Amino acid sequence: MIIAVDGPAASGKGTLAAGLADHYGLPHLDTGLLYRAVGRAVQGIEEGPEFVARAIAAACSLDAKALGDRDALTTAEAGAIASRVAVIAEVRAALFAFQREFATQPGGAVLDGRDIGTKICPDADVKLFIQADSKARMERRARQLEGRGLAVDRYALYHQIEERDARDMLNPHGGFYKADDAHLLDTTQLSIEAALRAAIAIIDRTMALKAGGQ
Ligand code: C5P
Repeated sequence: MIIAVDGPAASGKGTLAAGLADHYGLPHLDTGLLYRAVGRAVQGIEEGPEFVARAIAAACSLDAKALGDRDALTTAEAGAIASRVAVIAEVRAALFAFQREFATQPGGAVLDGRDIGTKICPDADVKLFIQADSKARMERRARQLEGRGLAVDRYALYHQIEERDARDMLNPHGGFYKADDAHLLDTTQLSIEAALRAAIAIIDRTMALKAGGQ
């Protein structure tokens, strides 16, 4: 079973996808980490031809080991650079094969990102599109970062998230929109546990309908 989980920055899709992977005993890929790892390779380089060339080279030679340093990859700054390399068509193309191979492994997988249901796995068995209002997302991300001992400027974080969402939604190569057959799940008012229960209910219902041939 392939489960696609898409949604904007800090929507809780990563936590949800990890919970689903655990529940169904499936491997999980947080595809944002791929873009973050590529972004890391161009940190400090001004946007321009060199930035683009180095980002493409990093995407083409990306090693799964580069995804291991989660703490360094999940800072707000790493997210911002990730969304800058994510607009480069060649970067997306280079990361496509990695994601596709992960998704199609025997038994299936859970992938979360922006374009899983639209571009990476249009054939996914179940697609979820996670939504939550910007303030709730900022607060969740702030608490996550504070939990790691980092100081957080909530005003700056809010604007960073809004700016990143805008860039992702306008990305001409991005595919960041709700697929027609994706189920919308708004987690603004939901705890992590409640969101996970709601997602499992959607998946079980969808799979039961499929098994019944409907
Ligand atoms: O999901 P996360 O916030 O870690 O993603 C970081 C950035 O990587 C996003 O803002 C987006 O620009 C890019 N991304 C993408 N497609 C994906 C996953 C992430 O363009 N499937």
